[in-house]
Amino acid sequence: MGLEVDPAFFQDPEHRPKPTIDEAGSIPLIDLSPLSSVNPDDPHAPQALVGLLGELEAACTDWGFFQVVNHGVPPHLLQRLQAEARAFFALPTEEKRRVSRDAINPLGYFDTEHTKNVRDWKEVFDFMVDDEVVIPAWGEPGDEQAKTWKNRWPEYSELREAGHEYARAVEKLAFALLELISLTLGVGAKRLDGFFHGQSRSSFIRLNHYPPCPAPHLALGVGRHKDAGALTVLAQDDVGGLDVRRKSDGEWVRVKPIPDSYIINVGDIIQVWSNDKYESAEHRVSVNSERERFSIPFFFNPTLSTTVEPLEEVVDELINPPKYEAYNWGVFLKTRRNSNFRKLAVENLQI
Ligand code: SIN
Ligand code: FE2
Repeated sequence: MGLEVDPAFFQDPEHRPKPTIDEAGSIPLIDLSPLSSVNPDDPHAPQALVGLLGELEAACTDWGFFQVVNHGVPPHLLQRLQAEARAFFALPTEEKRRVSRDAINPLGYFDTEHTKNVRDWKEVFDFMVDDEVVIPAWGEPGDEQAKTWKNRWPEYSELREAGHEYARAVEKLAFALLELISLTLGVGAKRLDGFFHGQSRSSFIRLNHYPPCPAPHLALGVGRHKDAGALTVLAQDDVGGLDVRRKSDGEWVRVKPIPDSYIINVGDIIQVWSNDKYESAEHRVSVNSERERFSIPFFFNPTLSTTVEPLEEVVDELINPPKYEAYNWGVFLKTRRNSNFRKLAVENLQI
């Protein structure tokens, strides 16, 4: 068993998925309908939002992960992108290679995904929300001048149009969530918005395809990791496979697919902004031998020139001193593939 699979995909024994996973007590489910239904003139409006803020605060504290329904993203936009993604991954390998990230990505991504040096059982296609992104000059050797990143698209298809249309809708949801999360941190709703606007926006969408795997007990679709950005808004199909590490007991819990829902998780940047009030949670993707799986995360990230540090309104020199030193998001992205920058920036700087 598993002999057909390249050992580059094999997880170390302690990280291989166990055959049974506790599906009870999964991540919280939050109904976002108050966001669209609350009329500010209604005297009950504040209570409706207070309830929602309380649920969000508890979910971000206890899990760092939750699912949302009644989110306002029109379902046909996701369905259209899902159909385009399916068609894209069905293309011959040479055609997919032509638009792959390998040769072109100045931020240093590679076409085959590895998490913690083990290869992930999946193929991906990424695009930034803006077709052209200015990568600032960082003044390091090779980086003296700003560069422009350009998305690559397959010529034949409507993937580009479907991708941009979907990106605009899902980004609206991400901004709404960011504003609610800001309120739960006790800062103004728009306090963080400015970090996400400018010519070096770094939010992007990833199309994931996990083919059936002949050795699902040895490999993972994505190895255990935390998301480095601000927020992730993930659409998964009905196959299932995303496992979240429950903070209360360290168990891996499967996230059940719920039709027309999104899975939201806070990333390292919100962890830093909130000075550890909300911690990004570890997660991974299990694969299976029967069904292929598709997922589409939207990675909501600040502009590349953003300096990330605990918010001054959140910290207090006496009772809640800053746990992280400031770091530049663009430099972080560029260097994390070939250094321990993540460790340095996020883990080792805890005081
Ligand atoms: C990821 O966390 O990178 C992927 C999540 C998924 O495919 O469900
Ligand atoms: Fe992730």
